[in-house]
Amino acid sequence: MSAIIYKGKSYHCQEGETVLACLNRKHADVPSSCQSGVCRTCMMRAVSGKPTPESQQGLEPGLVEKGYFLACVCRPTEDLEVVLSGDDVMSYIEARVVEKIQLSDEIVRVLLSPLVPFGYRPGQYVNIRRTDGTFRSYSLGSLPGEDTLDLHIRVVPGGEMSTWLANEVRVGSTISIEGPHGDCYYSESTQAERPLLLAGSGTGLCPLWGILRDALARGHGGPIRLFHGSYSRAGLYLVDELKALAEEHESFSYHPCVDAAGEGEDLMVGRVDQVVIEAIPDLQGWEVYLCGHPGMVEATWNAVRGAGANESDIHCDPFTPTPASTS
Ligand SMILES: Cc1cc2nc3c(=O)[nH]c(=O)nc-3n(C[C@H](O)[C@H](O)[C@H](O)COP(=O)(O)OP(=O)(O)OC[C@H]3O[C@@H](n4cnc5c(N)ncnc54)[C@H](O)[C@@H]3O)c2cc1C
Ligand code: FES
Repeated sequence: MSAIIYKGKSYHCQEGETVLACLNRKHADVPSSCQSGVCRTCMMRAVSGKPTPESQQGLEPGLVEKGYFLACVCRPTEDLEVVLSGDDVMSYIEARVVEKIQLSDEIVRVLLSPLVPFGYRPGQYVNIRRTDGTFRSYSLGSLPGEDTLDLHIRVVPGGEMSTWLANEVRVGSTISIEGPHGDCYYSESTQAERPLLLAGSGTGLCPLWGILRDALARGHGGPIRLFHGSYSRAGLYLVDELKALAEEHESFSYHPCVDAAGEGEDLMVGRVDQVVIEAIPDLQGWEVYLCGHPGMVEATWNAVRGAGANESDIHCDPFTPTPASTS
């Protein structure tokens, strides 16, 4: 059993327990969101002791060297003295809500203007923090040269953050954002002739919208195929904009798909993982981006690996929800 020292108090971490669960069991109030090592809301720094390698996976080498780790996935194997990550790595900035646009019955576009310069790559994500300490992650569909950050929020019935953003946050008010995070973005090192597969479900289209337009703006010459899946036509959005991009760029094709037949001949039918493989059975040499529902991301990851895509060429952004009963 390891001891966790935090704010001058010692806590006993039970067998298999994470640092986050241990501290919050004792009401230490460490912030968290995804609780699966994705969003970085729970990032801490070990002042003494060594965090587990799993809890530092995906962090930049500079952060690892300084002892930063993700408390929600750290099951300590030795005593640790820890502090919450400082402003040097988790600095919140204010952003003004410039506009809110209904993209479909259940998806709202929120356009934000950061009050200080904010650098990011299209497809990365930010954490939004409410004053009551609730955190959630949202992807960026905008390009850095554009005036505003483009967020697509699916309104989850009863969802803390999404209903707040959709119904309560007013245009003209400011909210706190932190980031950017994530490595699911178009990279300059991608060969311009290489085929790109973009596949997502629901608001997984948001990062793909950013990645797609970034690739086109950077002159990507290889074929780009985007598959966007939803349970029905009502869940698809930006359809006209994507069709217009496909008309403008010969190299780009857009494939909207729905779960069941009967929604129109222009839609493919089937789950995203099935539709992708039916359309492109051989994915050797393709660079792949998968965003949205975690189950869809996992199923499509397995499918594209089976079709020959290299593991190192698959970039994923699963929208892992915050576990129930935490904020
Ligand atoms: C890296 C990352 C990027 C993300 N990007 C986006 C984005 O661009 N757009 C976006 O809309 N969301 C995105 N999400 C999801 C987002 O962070 C929230 O989880 C989501 O908005 C729900 O939060 P909430 O507070 O409204 O609901 P909560 O209060 O957390 O949940 C309310 C209830 O709904 C359930 N629930 C939560 N999410 C879902 C879901 N998707 N489907 C079904 N039930 C659900 C919960 O289990 C709970 O029972 C992203 C998540 C991650 C980790
Ligand atoms: S990374 Fe720990 S809560 Fe998200």
